[in-house]
Amino acid sequence: MSRSNFEEFPLSTARFDGRAAVVTGAASGIGSAIATALVAEGARVAGFDIDEAGLRKKAAELGDAFLPITADVTVEAQIEAGIATVAATFGRLDAALNVAGGSRIGAITDLAESDWDFTVDLVQKSVFLCTKHEARLMRDFANGGAIVNISSLDGRIPMPGGSPYATGKAGVVMFSKNAALELAQHRIRVNSVLPGLVDTPLVAAIMGYEPAKQMFLERIPLGTAATPEQVAGPCLFLASDDASYITGTELVVDGGWEISNFPNLAKLAG
Ligand SMILES: NC(=O)c1ccc[n+]([C@@H]2O[C@H](COP(=O)([O-])OP(=O)(O)OC[C@H]3O[C@@H](n4cnc5c(N)ncnc54)[C@H](O)[C@@H]3O)[C@@H](O)[C@H]2O)c1
Repeated sequence: MSRSNFEEFPLSTARFDGRAAVVTGAASGIGSAIATALVAEGARVAGFDIDEAGLRKKAAELGDAFLPITADVTVEAQIEAGIATVAATFGRLDAALNVAGGSRIGAITDLAESDWDFTVDLVQKSVFLCTKHEARLMRDFANGGAIVNISSLDGRIPMPGGSPYATGKAGVVMFSKNAALELAQHRIRVNSVLPGLVDTPLVAAIMGYEPAKQMFLERIPLGTAATPEQVAGPCLFLASDDASYITGTELVVDGGWEISNFPNLAKLAG
């Protein structure tokens, strides 16, 4: 490639200079890593979470660039109020990364209706509610925007005992496509990210129990769980102008887990 080609496509380290972002689940794990990476690239970030102490810690780490907003992403009134604070404080919204999540597990034959509702509300309804209010602000600001919704590899691969989580996460992929279709007229892009195993407090029980951890790692060709930063990078790509022509699709970030289901007969060869 000639030098002039490089000048046409400069590699930027400050893709979010002057921009404003919302990150849900910003107090921990993947959301926390995304907030840190966005601030490092010039953004002001509103971090939504129910974990007030975690948000305070994040604010101490990131300083004035981080606006902590205590809100439950399953409650529309709290999201609406939080987005109003974003509008009043930043006066704009360029990127929104809907990351908050969690689950209650159980066999279908035993699962309580309340556990199903808790999980589907948290992983799926929250993405609808957040997208709704984030997109309204982006539309009113009229400068376009990008929304990244965190699904999971479980949205494609069922998990024993995880029917509400896997169902909800599959819904996040389709919802993101639907939102991309509807919001393109406002130059708002919407995509989803499907992480595999990521070393965060959410999976501490797996990562802390060696036999379980090994069973997961056997499935992952790259041989490790992802760090939260390894998921934050692809999320920032989709939220940035580097992905300006990408909307309505999904990005799997799983170390190859999804492609490893065929038995490895080579092991029989001794
Ligand atoms: N860790 C993994 O292996 C993995 C794999 C695939 C997908 N994911 C998804 O990535 C996302 C982030 O997970 P993580 O691993 O960083 O987990 P985490 O537990 O470290 O962080 C989740 C954050 O969401 C917040 N949260 C939970 N319920 C909330 C609510 N009702 N309102 C507002 N905030 C709430 C928590 O307080 C926490 O700060 C989740 O959607 C999760 O399903 C994680």
